Amino acid sequence: MPNRTKLIAGNWKMNNDVAAAAKLADELAEALPEVPEGVEVLVCPPTIDITTVHARMQAAPIALGAQNVYWEAKGAYTGESSCDMLKSAGCTYCIIGHSERRGYFHETDEDMNKKAKALVAAGIVPVFCCGEPEEVREAGTYVDFVCNQVKAGLEGLEIKCPKQLVVAYEPIWAIGTGKTATAEDAQEVCGAIRETLKEMFGEELADGIRVLYGGSAKPGNIAELVAKPDVDGALVGGASLKAADFASMVVKAGE
Ligand code: 13P
Repeated sequence: MPNRTKLIAGNWKMNNDVAAAAKLADELAEALPEVPEGVEVLVCPPTIDITTVHARMQAAPIALGAQNVYWEAKGAYTGESSCDMLKSAGCTYCIIGHSERRGYFHETDEDMNKKAKALVAAGIVPVFCCGEPEEVREAGTYVDFVCNQVKAGLEGLEIKCPKQLVVAYEPIWAIGTGKTATAEDAQEVCGAIRETLKEMFGEELADGIRVLYGGSAKPGNIAELVAKPDVDGALVGGASLKAADFASMVVKAGE
């Protein structure tokens, strides 16, 4: 099995004003003066907090990402941020395709595809999210559903190195519900995603691309999740808002 660096990524979603973000960033920098070998740490604050968090965490071994981006370079797109703007604020990663953006903001596979291409061209790593709703899980067609999201969202993406892309499998029924998928459930779909990535990008690249699990990941279940061969870390919502919980997940991922 290739030796992929585990990634523990925090998605703060729409939480923390500037003062609260500064406080959490300070707490994280203090809790994680170093990270275990073989683990990388990422936090993705709301856009308004990014420059503050960047300034507070400059000395910490924690990467910074955004939760959204627009694919055009600049111009009359009220409310949006471009790849270069994110880069200038210190972001090296950006979440795209989160089910909350697909659901509440009607983002489509085509939107994801444009965002993924713009990010890669700008040298920012997309954290591409995919995942099925509960009814698809119950119908038993979730593997095809998720792999089709991956194919549509990442079609034609040109990457030369596996570190240029991260995929996060987040079953919608497990997000914020406390209902975690079992490690076996996560492995089943993350493994299928890797097979799809092999078809799309070739075996060598796909073997090195990190595939994360997200959905009620917490200190109590991170170890069994990352013990699975195709689960290379987690995209963490709720538990990333508490420095002690998030830091403990980072440590456990490295054990
Ligand atoms: P929770 O960890 O709060 O379930 O959120 C998962 C998620 O959506 C991360 O992007």
